[in-house]
Parts: sequence; structure tokens; C-alpha cells
Amino acid sequence: MKVLLGVCGGIAAYKAAELLRELQRQGAEVQVVLTQGAEKFITPLTFAALSGRQVLTSLWNPAVSDSASAEMPQPFGIEHIDIAQWADVLVIAPATAHMLAKLAHGMADDLLSTIALATTAPIVVAPAMNVNMWHNAATQANLKTLRSRGVHLVEPASGELACGMVGEGRLAEIGEIASAILHAANPIRDLAGERILITAGGTREAVDPVRYLGNRSSGKMGIALAEAALARGAEVTLITTTGRVSSLRCKQIQVESAEQMRTAVLHHLPQATTLIMAAAVADYRVATPSEQKIKKSSEHLTLELERTPDILSEAARLRLPGTLIIGFAAETRHVSEEGRRKLREKDVDAIVANDVSGTESGIGADLNGGTMLFADREVTLPLSTKRKMAESILHELATLRVDRLQRIS
Ligand code: CTP
Repeated sequence: MKVLLGVCGGIAAYKAAELLRELQRQGAEVQVVLTQGAEKFITPLTFAALSGRQVLTSLWNPAVSDSASAEMPQPFGIEHIDIAQWADVLVIAPATAHMLAKLAHGMADDLLSTIALATTAPIVVAPAMNVNMWHNAATQANLKTLRSRGVHLVEPASGELACGMVGEGRLAEIGEIASAILHAANPIRDLAGERILITAGGTREAVDPVRYLGNRSSGKMGIALAEAALARGAEVTLITTTGRVSSLRCKQIQVESAEQMRTAVLHHLPQATTLIMAAAVADYRVATPSEQKIKKSSEHLTLELERTPDILSEAARLRLPGTLIIGFAAETRHVSEEGRRKLREKDVDAIVANDVSGTESGIGADLNGGTMLFADREVTLPLSTKRKMAESILHELATLRVDRLQRIS
């Protein structure tokens, strides 16, 4: 995804650097354009260093030539039209009241407003300003015009403003802006109407009040699935052991143990059209966790473990007709055979079997790959980022849904 990040002059301009990092984390390539006002608040050098690209500032001489960014490749041959066409999405954050007015009236008196007029890419604006400027009838009328033209607006938050007043006008949360950008840029909406329940992370089983038995799962695969499913138009509920992910605009439920995850999954299952169990659920828990911290009194300590419930199998038994269920199989050997066994025994629609024996991919790593197994076929998922792998899994899910619907009709 290629994102053109336009930054206007305002106290919140520094937050655009955080947005840039968040977008890069999501795999985006980001080109920054600063208005003259923005340069009063934050230097092009900051953005050049973070983005690794020259920062564009002027309609007449687009590339800035400070000592650091002069070394970087000139991003575009022909000025604003090239830039406008390069982008998959244009985001203006923070957008000032003045910039909103220019956009609403089609004015093109600097590089950013000219690009906004020339681009055919979706536009996202995240305004930040004084509360009275925000509520001013002129600003509200401009916003109405922009909305009616399909511009995506990320409404400012309420709170204490830089001017000392309290009210609406603070730049929205970075995570919220990032998801709005993903929504706007992702034309694939093949999961609109799906309500997907996703589990993420490794469960923790209490040993005593301070210790637990856990595993190396980071939750990254489940979170990547949630991000990608939201971008494709699905409604997502994430049940996770990894803490709240602020960039995800979906319901998030925090759990710790396999039992808590089971309760949350079974509670939400009837409303879901699909369940994806990406979590690494502990197979055993301590039969009787100690109520007090265990003291190191003897040379050896034996813990008695008991089986945890198999959430995936139980969900498959209890699901309503039409609910699709996808499980994972983390294997260190006989990956496909073990995956096929789980597909059969757990009675699910698909299993994503991945080899977690190496350090490069799988549990806790940034990359993943494997095979998606269905009753009648299998699809290779090449080693890639977890986000890319999530896209491939969701593409298969969309295909499965269409197949099922065609079978019914
Ligand atoms: N799973 C589950 N409940 C458990 C254990 C696993 O729902 N108590 C789910 C996982 O979320 C995953 C799938 O089952 O989607 C397979 O998990 P995995 O750990 O690979 O397999 P196990 O069922 O534990 O089987 P085995 O011990 O034979 O590998």
C-alpha cells in the first residue's frame, strides 16, 4: 500500500511521525508532503529519516534538499501529477480548518492541496484544531461537502486542547487514523457481512498467584487476521491474551487461561459467521493451582497437570449451521499429516498447518507460511509477513463462503 501522508501546520503535526511509523508497521510505503505551516512545527528531516524518502514541500521545487535527504533517491520525475497518481491513498493528518476549506472549494495553491485535487485515490482527513474553529458553521459546511464527495473523515477526539480550551478538536488516536486509511485504501470488501470471531495469543495457566505455564505465541497472527478482516469489510471480535491493540477498531476481549478463552468463544460463537482459532491454547493446566506463592522448600517440585478443554472441537460441535470454522496446527514435524488429522478429528472447515520448527517463521516470529488444508484440496501459503499470510487465508475464507452459498442455492 502506497500512502501519501500530507501534514499541515498545527501542534499535532508531531503526531504525524507516529502515524508514519504505524503505517510502516502495517507494511505501507509512505511519502510525506509537508505544507509550509507544518514546517514551522516539525522539520522535513524528521520525516525523511523515518520514511527513508525525500520529503516534498513545495509546488515549485517539490523535493527538499537538506543534507540528509539529498542523499535519498528523488521520488518523482514530474511534480504533483506523478505524486498524485503514485498514491493508493492520500491522508491529511493533521488537517487544519484552512486545509479543509481549500479542499472543499477545490483550491490548489500549494503542493498538498494541488495533489488532493489531482489524485483519484481515496482521501482521508484527520482534522485537529481549536474547538470553536471545529464547531464554526464554515468548517462544518466544508466537512459536509467533503463527506458528500466521499472523503473519509476521522473525527477529532474530545479533550484538553493545545490552546488550553477543552472540547472537540484533538487529533484522533493514531490507531483510529491508521485503520481508516486501511479501510479507504483496501478495495477488496469481500468479507462485508461476515462477523468473524478471532482468537490470538498464547494462554497462560496459573501455577500460583505469581507464576503461570505459557507458550511463545505473540498473538501477531491473530492480530494480522483481525486487521486484514476489518480492512476487507468484516465485523471482527478479537479474543486475545496479548493486551489491547489500539490500532484495531473492533471489539476486543482480554482473556488469560484456556478456560476463559473457551467461555468467551462459546459466548460469542452464536453471533459469529466464522471462527478463526489462531490462538496457541495450552493443552494442559495445573490441576490445583496453589492459592499462595509456592516456596522453594524442596530440591524437586512436581506439578500435576490436567487436560484443558479443546475449544476448537467444542465450537465445531456447537456451531450453528453455516458457521465456518478455521483452526491452526502448529507442528514441528509431519506438518501436513498432523494438519489433516486435526481437520478430521476436530471437524472444522480448514486447518492452517504451519511448521514452527525454525526460528524464522511461526510462533512468535514476524514471518509465517504453511499449507491451508480443506477436505477436498490444499493451498500453499508461501513464507511471508503474517499480514500477507492473513490476506491469503481470508481470500480462501471468502472463496469457501461463496462455494457454500452456491451449494445451498
Ligand atoms: N486448540 C483449542 N483448544 C485446545 C488446544 C488447541 O481450541 N485446548 C486449537 C488451536 O487454537 C488450534 C488447533 O486447536 O486452532 C490446533 O492446535 P494445536 O496446538 O496445533 O493442536 P492440539 O489440538 O493441541 O493437538 P496436538 O497436541 O496433537 O498437537
